[in-house]
Amino acid sequence: MKNPVTVASGTFGYGGEYDRYFDVARLGAVTTKSLSLKPRPGNRPPRLVETPAGMLNAIGLQNVGIDAYLRDKAPFLREKRVPIIGNIYGATPDEYAELARRLEAEDAADAIEANLSCPNVHDAQRATGPVLVSQSCEAIGAYTRAIRAATRLPLFVKLTPNVMNIQEPALAAEEAGADGVCLINTLLGMAIDAETRRPKLSNIVGGLSGPAIRPVAVKMVWDAARALRIPIIGTGGIACAADAIEFLLAGATAVSVGSMSFRQPDAAVQVVEGIEAYLRRHGIGAVTELIGAMQV
Ligand SMILES: Cc1cc2nc3c(=O)[nH]c(=O)nc-3n(C[C@H](O)[C@H](O)[C@H](O)COP(=O)(O)O)c2cc1C
Repeated sequence: MKNPVTVASGTFGYGGEYDRYFDVARLGAVTTKSLSLKPRPGNRPPRLVETPAGMLNAIGLQNVGIDAYLRDKAPFLREKRVPIIGNIYGATPDEYAELARRLEAEDAADAIEANLSCPNVHDAQRATGPVLVSQSCEAIGAYTRAIRAATRLPLFVKLTPNVMNIQEPALAAEEAGADGVCLINTLLGMAIDAETRRPKLSNIVGGLSGPAIRPVAVKMVWDAARALRIPIIGTGGIACAADAIEFLLAGATAVSVGSMSFRQPDAAVQVVEGIEAYLRRHGIGAVTELIGAMQV
């Protein structure tokens, strides 16, 4: 990556959607929507709800599927010469392994990000116990090892914040061979219409994102950075360069801009430029000097 800024999976389509707003090659990398073996229609609407300083979504991993991605989407990103982080979702470790294998074999990703933390796809959605893969260290180990064995591409594991102690799943990913982790996916939430008494999302439960979750995400990056040797992609509510720098100071090596791109389509490139201006203003030679440089 020529700069530490990518986009958060699911908020930037497959890259081409944003090319009319800015040259996506200015990003450090483009992260794709989660790709599955078969196309997925996602959940029925309503699947987005605005919340104070953020949004709830229950998209349910709608995506074109790996075949259409390889045929119709990856060529555009390759032409752009922007590094691709291929985000993948499967129902089993074997499915993840197969997706990683295909992305590598067809030269359609430079790194893999395994989404082990989507809150919107499990039948057990309404259970109160652990339902996401990344809520179980054992499951993280099994899934990560399967993907690790299938590819030589750098492997990032994307974790859920819906846990007691983020260091445990992060260490489980590291021990199983991940090259990095992405923190955080959305926080579980729900909203109810007081007049109709009905849930505002068809799925009832969704994932909270946007500025509201940034302090939670920064704390989780800081916690994880003190336990891990591998790098962290910090994600959650980044709206401007100062927000991104906050994640770097907490210990992230790179950042991704998510929900903000819906409000301001060129938000991610503004963050790239804002970080460059910050480095000039502070006379800092390399952005890596900021990683974990919070002063207490
Ligand atoms: C509409 C929407 C769709 C998302 N889809 C995915 C997805 O397919 N895979 C994934 O790993 N994360 C997905 N996410 C989570 C984001 O990548 C990110 O982790 C989260 O939104 C926090 O960042 P933000 O507050 O900057 O949006 C999605 C988020 C939103 C808002």
